[in-house]
Amino acid sequence: MTVVVSVQHSRSGSGATTVASTLAYILSMHGRTLYIEADFLNPVIEKLTRSTDIFSGYSNEWIIGEKSLNELARDVGRVFNLESGRLYFLSANPSDDSRRRMEVLDSENDERILKALEDERWVVGGSPLDYVVIDTPPWMDYVLACVSYVSNYVVYVIKPKVYELSVLEDRIENIYSNFVCLVNPVINMYRSDDEDMRRFEEKLKERTHLLPRKIPYIHEFASGLDMPLIFTRKNKMYNYLIEYVQEIVEKPKLYGTGLKKESATMF
Ligand SMILES: Nc1ncnc2c1ncn2[C@@H]1O[C@H](COP(=O)(O)OP(=O)(O)OP(=O)(O)O)[C@@H](O)[C@H]1O
Ligand SMILES: [Mg+2]
Repeated sequence: MTVVVSVQHSRSGSGATTVASTLAYILSMHGRTLYIEADFLNPVIEKLTRSTDIFSGYSNEWIIGEKSLNELARDVGRVFNLESGRLYFLSANPSDDSRRRMEVLDSENDERILKALEDERWVVGGSPLDYVVIDTPPWMDYVLACVSYVSNYVVYVIKPKVYELSVLEDRIENIYSNFVCLVNPVINMYRSDDEDMRRFEEKLKERTHLLPRKIPYIHEFASGLDMPLIFTRKNKMYNYLIEYVQEIVEKPKLYGTGLKKESATMF
């Protein structure tokens, strides 16, 4: 039984990768966890983990069904000084050429993407995973729809700016009305003393009927994505996501995957 959590966002710099990797870190304490970088627009994992030599291929090949997770994912226990066999990574190809190719596949609604995800058994190191966290691109509608299709949970990361509301409303409403998964908006870099932010939160609740979780501005993260810090207990985002992870761990299959009945013709 593998639980799939996808982390989505509509604006670069919202903190999606930070939230996704923190979730993967916490989930790895509860079971075998794979973090998939499927953000083909801004791949950072290979560079940040300084581990170019450990990956033998990329999520680009996996998502179109050319290679299996079992072949591609790597145990990163040693990279982060964690127990081995708990946390695996699959990074996206950082070359410009690869990025352009993925954009084309997305715009053509390449059916291999849906098929590969639909057929996925979520097996790594020879045995099934407990948790999979997928970091997704800020746009690429088809890839996002396919990922939502296989997600039990969608964490939608928002960096508040009122002008984003209409985009957010559409995106969240689209996931919420078409897919079986549970959508959880997370407002990142939240400041309770900011009047604009409070209005944003109110409007979000009003328009999506979803209650956002909030993560404050964390100074330690201001200087850039810090993977070695994220995968330690010093990661301050940990405290804001632990409860959410607990809910997933306690009721892993409360939310299924796939389409709502009335959306059966979506793909
Ligand atoms: N709660 C936070 N407080 C302060 N800084 C944060 C917080 N969350 C993330 N950051 C910082 O914001 C920057 C962007 O974060 P991140 O790379 O996770 O965003 P992203 O949404 O994945 O962006 P992209 O779409 O470009 O991949 C990083 O420098 C990160 O360290
Ligand atoms: Mg990112």
